[in-house]
Formats: sequence, C-alpha cells, structure tokens
Amino acid sequence: NQDNGTPLMGMNPNMGMGGEVTMELVPSKQETKELALPPLLEGTLSSDGSISYTIATQEGGTQFKEGNATQTFGYNGSYLGPIIRIRKGQNVHLTTVNKLEENTSFHWHGLKIPSNVDGGPHSPIKPNGTATVDFTVMQEAATLWFHPHPEGRTGEQVYNGLAGLIYVEDENSDSLDLPKDYGINDFPIIVQDRFFDEDNQFNYQDIQNMDGTQGDTLLVNGTINPYIEVKNEKIRLRLVNGSNARNYQFNLSSKESFYQIASDGGFLNEPVQMDTLQLVPGERAEIVVDVSDYKKGDNVKLMNGNAEVLSINVVEGINPEIKSLPETLNKISTSFNSVSVPDKELTFSGMGNMVAINGKQFDMERIDLQAKTGTTEIWEINNSNDMMGGMIHPFHLHGVQFKVLDRNGKVPPANEQGWKDTIALYPGEKVQIEVEFPEKGIFMYHCHILEHEDNGMMGQIIVE
Ligand code: C2O
Ligand code: CU
Ligand code: CU
Repeated sequence: NQDNGTPLMGMNPNMGMGGEVTMELVPSKQETKELALPPLLEGTLSSDGSISYTIATQEGGTQFKEGNATQTFGYNGSYLGPIIRIRKGQNVHLTTVNKLEENTSFHWHGLKIPSNVDGGPHSPIKPNGTATVDFTVMQEAATLWFHPHPEGRTGEQVYNGLAGLIYVEDENSDSLDLPKDYGINDFPIIVQDRFFDEDNQFNYQDIQNMDGTQGDTLLVNGTINPYIEVKNEKIRLRLVNGSNARNYQFNLSSKESFYQIASDGGFLNEPVQMDTLQLVPGERAEIVVDVSDYKKGDNVKLMNGNAEVLSINVVEGINPEIKSLPETLNKISTSFNSVSVPDKELTFSGMGNMVAINGKQFDMERIDLQAKTGTTEIWEINNSNDMMGGMIHPFHLHGVQFKVLDRNGKVPPANEQGWKDTIALYPGEKVQIEVEFPEKGIFMYHCHILEHEDNGMMGQIIVE
C-alpha cells in the first residue's frame, strides 16, 4: 500500500491503488466543535395512529471548515438528513420530493418494505418529482438508515451528503432500561470520510476511485473534530458507517471495553463486551460506553485505530447511580446450522470495473435469483478475491433482516448473532446466512462499497 497521507496538488488522491484502498486519515487542524445532531423530523400523527413525514432532497452549502462553504446535498437541509421515527405496527406515509437537478431515489436501508417503495434503481424520481411511500412497520426496534440508490450514481449522491436515519421503536425498546435521551445520553454517530480540495469542495468526479472513494478527513454527523458533553453515566452511541468505502475499527482511547447492544436490525440477545468493533460501509451497531466512574473534566475518545473520531467530555460529575445494563435485550432464536448444499450461492469477484457477482454485472433487465415469501433459505456467499490485493466486500440485501449462520465453518462472533442486513465478506471467505423474505417483489443485493455497486456488483432477486 502506498502512502496517501499527503496527496500531491492536482493529483487524484484516490488514484492508482491496487488491493484494499486505504487513504490515510490526516488529523484536521480545525478547532474541536460540538457534534451536530440531526433534527428529529416532525411528523403528522393521525387519529388512527399512522404517521406522515415529508422528506426532500436539496442542494446547499455547508460550512465544514474555515473558508469556503462546501457545495453539498442533503435531506431537508444542506448535508445529511433528519431522523425519521417510526414504531412497530404503525402505518407510515412518506412523501418524498426531489429538489435536485438530477434523478435520485429514496432507499430505506434495513426496512422490511414492499419492493415498489424500496427505492432501488427501478424507482428514480425526476427533478421536481415526488413519490409517496406507504408501508406498515413489520420489524422490531432498530437503527436503520436511508440514502439514494439511482443506477450508477449512488456513490456520488451519498458522498455529496444524502443519508439520514430511521429509528424504529417498539414495546421492548420502550421498556428496556437503556440510555434513551436524545442528545443527552443517546447519540446518532454517522461516520464518514471526505477529501476537501483547496476550495473546500468535494469534487467527487475528480477524486472518485473505482474500488471505493475515500477521504483523508473524518466527519461525524458532518462535524470535523467533534465532541459531546455528557454527565458521568452510560452513553449510547448509534454508530452508522455512512462512508462510501472505508472500514472502521472502533475502540476507546482508554483501552477500556464497551458493550455492543444492537446490530443492524435490532437488539442483540444480550450485551456483548468488546474492545474493538469493525463496521464496514452500510453496517450499524449500537454501543454503550460507560463513563459512570469518570469525574467532571475527564474525557474518553472514540477512536478508529489511532485516529480520533469523537471526544466524550464529562462536564457534570453527579453521584453515579450505578446501574448495570439489562442482561436480556432480545429473544432471537439462534441455531447455527450451516449446510453442505445451500439454497443459493453467490460469488463476489473482481476489482475496479471488473467487479461481478456470479460472473455477471448488474442489468436492470435481468432477474438473477428467485425466492418465495415465507420460505427460509440458506445462502452461501463467497468472496473470491483471495489473491494479493484481495479486499473486503460488504454484502447487503434489501427488504430483509437475515442471520449469519457460519463464517468459514465457524459460528459467527457474538456481536453478529443478531439481525443483520450488511456483513463484511473477507477475502477468500465463505459465509452462510439464513434469510426469509416477508414481501413479494424485486429486491437488490450488492456490495456496499458504493463504487462497486455503481460499477455493477449488484444483482436482483424476484420474490413471489
Ligand atoms: Cu444501503 Cu442497496 O443499499
Ligand atoms: Cu439497502
Ligand atoms: Cu465490493
């Protein structure tokens, strides 16, 4: 791997890499700043309990750094989007509006949703167009997200700022004794990397990389060098890897451990104690960092390897009410029975514009797989990139939450023994998952390195 820490003027900092793309993160000289919190979107609640929200894409200018504002995209704002809150069993009406000068689509990543409103590449919305999305929430409490998915342009639109969160709540999440005061002890943490040119612009067209566009500057919720101010208590961080291509290895500067309480699709059965947590693009995890025995003035940093992501500053030292985390968070049945003959086999292969699944590149006119609703299937997913230059492909499947049964013949790690919609496929690895589609229609599966998706590392399944 070459050293990309100091990109040369006029050169594409993401260019000319073989294998796993790694542009080194450079600590920003910007002053520390309080973490931006996405607004909680106000919906209209009807007497029958259903809720309506309006979400619009727009262009804007965002002041990330001193100097010029950056030209960006956002939902109901200039960068990123608000949080949509919905409940299990609720009927939801979303009005989606496209105020960009190009087609987009609204994809609800992790939602079990009918395919006609899933917002994949089949459902572009033209400039000034609108679309209505109606569905009933059929899943448990989880932190999900939404982003555009137009054919061939997902990478650029997400990079420019289109991404927002969906919080699903239910009776279980209501009753669990967990930190849940938004912006007090419960924080959304959308982690992204960006590269700013001399004019503070993103310039995706010039810096994009076929194997995943990275930047040298970390942003959390759009904030460079962010901090949060908290009391000495348990702090819940809802981590979202919203980057186009970068993998993160989260840990704490104190080398203390933390607890993962939720994976992509909901709570784990019990808190899992961890020292490091990897998240690939598209993946989420909720963790609890305990600063109960910290004093006023102390801080601990959420790190990615050696790079600082977020400073947790304790500004109020009350007499801690020492509480332990609930021992049971969920009741997911877990049996890890892998099979010798899976129902489906997918092989992810290639790099750059040669990326393919089972030797084929995405074709909107071609259906690759078929399944039936209500039938449990076991899929085996292979990453054939096991030579020099092999790389992790984040596998993502629309419209479902699945379970990981087996990683290369081994039971998955404890923090992957819950609901997942996105998983890392390591070079040379075989992973078996168990999946059941709740809805009929056509759903995408793809690599969540957005440039691989745009280059055709995507297929579609028809569910009947
Ligand atoms: Cu998060 Cu098909 O995407
Ligand atoms: Cu998705
Ligand atoms: Cu990939």
